[in-house]
Amino acid sequence: MALHLGDTAPDFTQDSTEGPIKFHEWAGDSWVILFSHPKDFTPVCTTELGEVSRLKPEFEKRNAKAIGLSVDPVEDHRNWAGDIEETQGHGLNFPLLADADRTVSDLYDMIHPNANDTLTVRSVFIIDPNKKIRLTITYPASTGRNFAEILRVIDSLQLTDDQKVATPVNWTDGDDCIIVPSVSNEQAKELFPQGWDEKKPYLRMVKQPNKA
Ligand code: BEZ
Repeated sequence: MALHLGDTAPDFTQDSTEGPIKFHEWAGDSWVILFSHPKDFTPVCTTELGEVSRLKPEFEKRNAKAIGLSVDPVEDHRNWAGDIEETQGHGLNFPLLADADRTVSDLYDMIHPNANDTLTVRSVFIIDPNKKIRLTITYPASTGRNFAEILRVIDSLQLTDDQKVATPVNWTDGDDCIIVPSVSNEQAKELFPQGWDEKKPYLRMVKQPNKA
């Protein structure tokens, strides 16, 4: 059954480039980006894994860590890591699950048989420190992901968990936010004493609260 936002991310134990991983234990108190790629030694995947390695400091700033997956064996992952470093300039610095027995792929519904009946699609799950699934996205094999978008969503989730705002289209950290509709104008005066721009009664723009 497909996993939905708000579901608890299923726990598992699986082998990885960093040895066996007990997922919930490994996740600890961090945010997690769990993502699958179709196959080792393929071009788009090579660029993606280099990029996720490059972005490690950005994940760390957000108390987040990445973990990748494909159904290839761990020896392939380890051999491929050299190619990633050579061609992308960033060596693999996060674990890659070797899900040859499909334990995780099945739990997370990462194989979509009408796309490909043996390989994982490009799934992304953002999981919060309470182990709740906060985002799911699925990309086709031929489209490399934009991991800046994943960072943007983490920024939005972390902000909106703490403040009574939502983030508008194309928002990035520091841009104006939206006061959530459940907050009355009376409450808003207390929460946002600097005021807001009321474009419509339901569309109230406010400076990003933790930057104001
Ligand atoms: C790739 O990573 O380049 C790729 C993998 C599977 C299908 C198509 C492209």
